[in-house]
Amino acid sequence: MTFTDTERRRAEELVARYPHSKSALLPLLHMAQDRDGYVTTDAMEDIADLLGLTPALVLGTCSFYTMFKREPIGKLVVSVCTNVSCLVNGGPALVEALRTKYADDHDVHVEEVECIAACDQAPVMQVNYEFHGPVTSESATDLIEQYKSGALKARTISGSPT
Ligand code: FES
Repeated sequence: MTFTDTERRRAEELVARYPHSKSALLPLLHMAQDRDGYVTTDAMEDIADLLGLTPALVLGTCSFYTMFKREPIGKLVVSVCTNVSCLVNGGPALVEALRTKYADDHDVHVEEVECIAACDQAPVMQVNYEFHGPVTSESATDLIEQYKSGALKARTISGSPT
């Protein structure tokens, strides 16, 4: 989806905050993802046009950062670390348990991530970038269910606030 007139004005306000318009690229990608739940091709083209960049450069930036999604995902992004501290404390088993549990749940997207800098709490997961650790598959599932029910509030990363 392309930017509406209101969104374009908001985007232009964002751009005006920076001495170099290119610096607004990441905030604009966040804005697009917040609206649609992922960064659409149309949004990347709009951003490129707004910043005077090529769509390829916007795509390159978008694809570099794992927090930007280029396809629809669930309302909850569960990121499980499997790097060294989490690896030796059950991270791989945790991610597999959660992938199995939520395999058919379109509201929950489980992903494996590199170190998220909370190694002292291993194994660690994030739900929409909120940290939780140490967690077991049981406590992780309990937390995810609380987010799903609304008992816990996660940051919004999609167009549909959780
Ligand atoms: S190794 Fe998992 S948070 Fe650092």
